[in-house]
Amino acid sequence: KLPGIDPSKLEVTKTITPKELVPNKDLVFGRTFTDHMLSIEWTASDGWQAPRITPYQNLSLDPATCVFHYAFECFEGMKAYKCPHDGSLRLFRPDKNMARLNKSAARIALPTFDGDKLTELIGKLAKLDERFIPSEKGYSLYIRPTLIGTQRTLGVGPPGSALLFVIASPVGPYYPTGFKAISLEATDYAVRAWPGGVGDKKLGANYAPGIVPQLQAAKKGLHQNLWLFGPEQNITEVGTMNLFVCIKNKETGQKELLTAPLDGTILEGVTRDSVLALARERLVPEGWKVEERYVKMQELADAESEGRLVEVFGAGTAAIVAPVRKIVWKDRTVDCGLKETEEAGEVALKMKDWMEAIQYGDEASPWSVKI
Ligand code: COI
Repeated sequence: KLPGIDPSKLEVTKTITPKELVPNKDLVFGRTFTDHMLSIEWTASDGWQAPRITPYQNLSLDPATCVFHYAFECFEGMKAYKCPHDGSLRLFRPDKNMARLNKSAARIALPTFDGDKLTELIGKLAKLDERFIPSEKGYSLYIRPTLIGTQRTLGVGPPGSALLFVIASPVGPYYPTGFKAISLEATDYAVRAWPGGVGDKKLGANYAPGIVPQLQAAKKGLHQNLWLFGPEQNITEVGTMNLFVCIKNKETGQKELLTAPLDGTILEGVTRDSVLALARERLVPEGWKVEERYVKMQELADAESEGRLVEVFGAGTAAIVAPVRKIVWKDRTVDCGLKETEEAGEVALKMKDWMEAIQYGDEASPWSVKI
């Protein structure tokens, strides 16, 4: 059996040129990075090599490296939070990100690894760069584990070598507009994911093709795509996030929180899973129904016409929740229930509060892992 990732072999080289901190208000998502990065090389013959924490630096790769040609790349998005009361550092549900990265890696013939070991190393990186982590609510350290195939070949086959690296970026609100409701184009001329495809994996290759449709939406003054699928026009995801819909049942009037099922075309969002768990724990006792099923675009539009559409929001690690104001569908605009002066509905706000209480350590939870 080849060596796995071994945190006891970690070699740390600290920077001699520490960066200046960017004030919270000037942080743009994913633009500034901490002082250090974590790297672990893998080869098919020798397994995982000793992990290294080094100053943040450029990679040097041969132009024939397979990642550049055949998209051997998968990644994660996770966050570290600093508790404003005691300064403790916490990762939010890192086990989920590790499990998903392993699934993504396996799908594109990249090596898998022990998730607990990588989490331990990520904890060390976050601790070393602790001064970059803001403790203000809404701010955190966005951590980007990335795995690439590094074999130098134009031959199409399983990479014989790989590099796992982790970089980290202090972040505030995901959208440049701050915590504001977004408007969507119901997109049916482009498809994000399809049955038998890789839409449920976090592959870089799933993201680039979404940009041209996003520009199409922007031409109409809309922020993001609402990805529809199939002749039924099932609502799948929004931009790079999972989507939640709150409607009142046509027959019973019961409030329902709905999101697309994990059928292989839906990204298995950690925030999605957290919203569902919190809803089952805290909304169901209040009389809500929570269901993982498709909502057709027509069903959503009908709910609006009949005054039964309560709220729509996206859910993802970067934004946590992204409330939706309206959806432009063909020549129709579906109003998603927010008052003109409101930026978020009740459920999105509750979810944000509940999630943040756990993330910043105000509320004890097994989801919040101290490092
Ligand atoms: C998320 O966390 O919602 C994302 O997937 C966004 C990330 C690709 C920047």
